[in-house]
Amino acid sequence: MTSDHKRIPPQVDQDRVLIFDTTLRDGEQSPGATMSHTEKLEIAGLLDEMGVDIIEAGFPIASEGDFAAVSDIAKNSKNSVICGLARANFKDIDRCWEAVKHARQPRIHTFIGTSPLHRAIPNLTMDEMAEKIHETVTHARNLCDNVQWSPMDATRTEWEYLTRVVEIAIKAGATTINVPDTVGYTAPRESSELIRRLIAEVPGADEVIFATHCHNDLGMATANALAAVEGGARQIECTINGLGERAGNTALEEVVMALKVRHDIMPYTCRVDTTKLMNISRRVAMVSGFAVQFNKAIVGKNAFAHESGIHQDGMLKNAETFEIMRPEDVGLAETNIVMGKHSGRAALRSKLKDLGHELADNQLNDVFVRFKALADRKKEVFDDDLIALVTDAGAADENDHLEVKFLRVICGTEAPQSADLTLRVGDKDFQVTAKGDGPVDASFNAVKALFPHDARLQLYQVHAVTEGTDAQATVSVRMEEDGRIATGQSADTDTVVASVKAYVNALNRLIVRREKAGKDAREVSYKDAG
Ligand code: KIV
Ligand code: ZN
Repeated sequence: MTSDHKRIPPQVDQDRVLIFDTTLRDGEQSPGATMSHTEKLEIAGLLDEMGVDIIEAGFPIASEGDFAAVSDIAKNSKNSVICGLARANFKDIDRCWEAVKHARQPRIHTFIGTSPLHRAIPNLTMDEMAEKIHETVTHARNLCDNVQWSPMDATRTEWEYLTRVVEIAIKAGATTINVPDTVGYTAPRESSELIRRLIAEVPGADEVIFATHCHNDLGMATANALAAVEGGARQIECTINGLGERAGNTALEEVVMALKVRHDIMPYTCRVDTTKLMNISRRVAMVSGFAVQFNKAIVGKNAFAHESGIHQDGMLKNAETFEIMRPEDVGLAETNIVMGKHSGRAALRSKLKDLGHELADNQLNDVFVRFKALADRKKEVFDDDLIALVTDAGAADENDHLEVKFLRVICGTEAPQSADLTLRVGDKDFQVTAKGDGPVDASFNAVKALFPHDARLQLYQVHAVTEGTDAQATVSVRMEEDGRIATGQSADTDTVVASVKAYVNALNRLIVRREKAGKDAREVSYKDAG
């Protein structure tokens, strides 16, 4: 802790750190991580429920879809502050306010790139940019009491200019000053020192909250965020699973667990219920199509697995030998054999509730049918199998344009392999036999034959949900068409079936996006800032 600790503004406990989640804005901006409206609402609900202080729900001017998502999230919010992003102009800020104003606690977040490289984009002099900051923050503050301002690329902005513009934003009414390390360039000591000096030297700094927003290009985002807190920041901006452009953002689960486990040396608190981390991590991985790496801190599949003999022996004697946190602290239910083909609906409902999924009756019925089918095919049904069933985006939905009705592949050592596919397109079933280089290629060719499209496959990933040769495979695919990207997922004990369903799931999402784009040709990027 530094001696500037006392400067934290009075509205926040000296040792309270606010958690600002930007999974739905910075995370969703990452190419391919696009989420549907319903998925965004679901994730926002989970964030609110787990105690996240501020949810950055999107960038309302970016598209009609973003606007609708931010306003619906604002309308449904319970405890969290709902924030929207706006560039430094009145039109963006007004649009942002229109979306967030429905929240119990709305916030406008406006930003401009202040480093020499970013100033060159709108071609503004330092004085012109300073004037723009004054005008836009004043405008935002006239609409909303809660205004956050960010000098984008702060860590590469000249010190004199940074202090000048931060002071202007505070005088114009900003209540939070966010200090972004936009390109993941800083390092822990510098991150801490930057915040400490800003708080010490900028007039009025003790009236506002300083936030840290780190990107992970050099793998230091979590360390930099925690160092910034030591320097006096009291808001950490982060995303679930560290989702975000390039190498991503600070991972929420990492900072929250670091604050909990090392409270002895970082005596700060936050409101997040850590037992909800695992569930939201899985949901974000599923809806974004960005699988969590196995050895990812806190939420990776191996984060609590002890394989080596020495570790297992130590764990059996005393779990603390190799474990600094308990799996249940992050909401990890033990993977054990839970259900079989004789298990009933009530048992399934109760087990799913333990795993963090409370289903409505119609959802339960659908999962129950698929559970029975799985239990017939698989010797042992594990917790992870059930989670894969519940979160299977590839499961048939009556609103989908395409549905896989039948698939049989012939594969073997002799190429080409072939696939017989029956696909529902609209309200008619069509059948074809196609060949390809392997069963997956043959099946995808069959889909293309029945539903011709120009969408390009950008990513195809297969993961085993549990161990064993009868394990379910979860498949993620990412597709691109005219700059629009959609991901699809599915799970099945048959890898080829899961692959085709994931492919068709992505196509269904592209079809929806294609229709939406027809209505909304005004998509913009936050990189047009200025
Ligand atoms: O990384 C960044 O600078 C941002 C800003 C828009 C805050 O995401
Ligand atoms: Zn960012």
